[in-house]
Amino acid sequence: MKDWEMVFLGQVYSTTMEQTLAALKHFGLVDKKNVLDAGAGYGSITIALARVNDNVVGIERDPERVEIANFLIKKSDQTKWKSHAPTVITMEIEKMGYGLRKDGIMCHGVVMYTKDWKETLRTLSRLLAKKGTMYIDIYLPKYIDWNERSGAKATLIKAPEFEKEIEKNKLKIVRTSMTRGDRVKEYIVEKI
Ligand SMILES: C[S@@+](CC[C@H](N)C(=O)[O-])C[C@H]1O[C@@H](n2cnc3c(N)ncnc32)[C@H](O)[C@@H]1O
Repeated sequence: MKDWEMVFLGQVYSTTMEQTLAALKHFGLVDKKNVLDAGAGYGSITIALARVNDNVVGIERDPERVEIANFLIKKSDQTKWKSHAPTVITMEIEKMGYGLRKDGIMCHGVVMYTKDWKETLRTLSRLLAKKGTMYIDIYLPKYIDWNERSGAKATLIKAPEFEKEIEKNKLKIVRTSMTRGDRVKEYIVEKI
């Protein structure tokens, strides 16, 4: 594992389970039947999602991250799942078919890294059931700069353009907030 990967792994697991669960509650991503963690990374949010929702699946394009995520899922407290353990599979968001619609989607720190963010948003909207809730965020310029130093190439998505695209995809913005010292904009959206 490269040095930066170790830093990233440490970073995502430095948020406590209690903090993540409180955030999920705040975002309305609890007590859902079918939840997708889109771009699950090392699965830290996937694990938290499965404590408070029924069927949780993570998808992640990097097979090494998928392997570690599933290892960490196995190692985590098996008595804490709301229904059963989640799984993370190797898959690109845009390649998801027309399977079961989700009533919750978490897409944390992902859309800027996909090949075509508009296509990603279209796919996520298609996967979300009517009245379903999705969390999605975008990095503002200062966070993109910081990120590029790690070698990860992220696209700068301008907030007004992103918001227009959200509306085009039959999604309604329920709430927005700023995080990471005002460098990341978060959206809670609902499928109309
Ligand atoms: C910054 S990480 C965030 C991981 C996780 N959501 C979290 O918050 O801990 C972004 C992840 O999105 C994944 N990713 C990027 N584009 C993707 C795509 N098109 N389909 C699936 N995963 C993707 C990357 O491989 C990476 O693991």
